[in-house]
Amino acid sequence: MKLENKQWYYVKRPEAQIGAENYELRKDVIDTSELKENEILIRSKYVSVDPYMRIHQSIHNTWEKPQELNTLQGSGVVGEVIESRSDKFIPGDFVNAYTGWQEYAVINADQARKLYPKIPVSTALSILGMPARVAYFGLLEEGELKSTDTVVVSGAAGAVGSIVVQLAKLKGCRVVGTAGTQEKIDYLQNELGIDVALNYKEHDSLEKMTKALAEACPEGIDVYYDNVGGNVTDAVFNLINHKARILICGQISQYNHGLDTPEMGPRFLHKMLYTRAKIQGILSRDYNHRMDEMLAEMEPLVQSGKLKYKETIMDGFENLPAALSGLFDGSNKGKMLVKIY
Ligand SMILES: NC(=O)c1ccc[n+]([C@@H]2O[C@H](COP(=O)([O-])OP(=O)(O)OC[C@H]3O[C@@H](n4cnc5c(N)ncnc54)[C@H](OP(=O)(O)O)[C@@H]3O)[C@@H](O)[C@H]2O)c1
Repeated sequence: MKLENKQWYYVKRPEAQIGAENYELRKDVIDTSELKENEILIRSKYVSVDPYMRIHQSIHNTWEKPQELNTLQGSGVVGEVIESRSDKFIPGDFVNAYTGWQEYAVINADQARKLYPKIPVSTALSILGMPARVAYFGLLEEGELKSTDTVVVSGAAGAVGSIVVQLAKLKGCRVVGTAGTQEKIDYLQNELGIDVALNYKEHDSLEKMTKALAEACPEGIDVYYDNVGGNVTDAVFNLINHKARILICGQISQYNHGLDTPEMGPRFLHKMLYTRAKIQGILSRDYNHRMDEMLAEMEPLVQSGKLKYKETIMDGFENLPAALSGLFDGSNKGKMLVKIY
């Protein structure tokens, strides 16, 4: 059987915000009779869009080289096995794999993780996927989280941030978060039980944000989990406690304009000296080999409803570039995904 396979190729480097003009829809043909021993054919059901895609479109090396033009956009996917020449999978199984923005993919069975869905399979890309790994290991391990800590989380209503907020609350910490709309502030307060949620757009100077955070954190800040950078991060440095732990998970406020020509912010490193604080970059892929460990802890919490999750799911393969762009407009609550069928 021959299948037409739609694919999104990255074709033009963005100068500012990523959008549809940076991608091109192409078509390929997969001949299912050519499947080799140990290979499976999967059909993408949910495809992920993530801020790191924009990071890799910077002109500079990051944790890897810049994405080359005329390449398929890579991404995590939840797919259904359509055909299998592996004894590990049968048609109808759902898997998590890194097959990118395409409708179908042929992969070696070793590249796929089988899902045993007790909860919706989309969670393999959200609360039980890549964002969860960096939230879980970043906060609990690198952050050396203690129940007495006051934790500040920027981007608190997003895929990573909403997990960090809840893990810190489960530990017993005081948790303060920032987000960009009243709807997200309400979600953090009413559904996730955060202590204080601040709309960073209403505190749009260093002075205003420092004042708001100082009121929300009367005993100072012990752990800062940063998804955003910019003004919020600058303000946090005014308030860090002795031996504070600052975790740099992301800097989304800088991706569209600041990766190639960084903004100059306040020079805060003297505060690190006074407080003997530590600052640490954290990357989800560094914990790939510990996925089972994370799932053993997180899956029961999700199943029992102790950990809540939201997914913003856009419909249709053609909407992948728009969904990616939407991350930079704040149009998602929780994990942004695209449903293909
Ligand atoms: N280190 C890692 O391994 C790793 C893994 C996953 C994600 N990350 C990072 O973690 C951060 C969050 O990623 P995510 O996947 O969880 O995305 P997300 O938070 O679910 O979605 C992105 C959110 O960022 C906020 N945002 C966009 N532009 C902004 C700006 N200029 N200033 C402030 N906020 C802005 C928006 O929320 P508002 O409405 O609140 O503005 C938007 O909804 C990103 O920086 C990402 O690069 C890192």
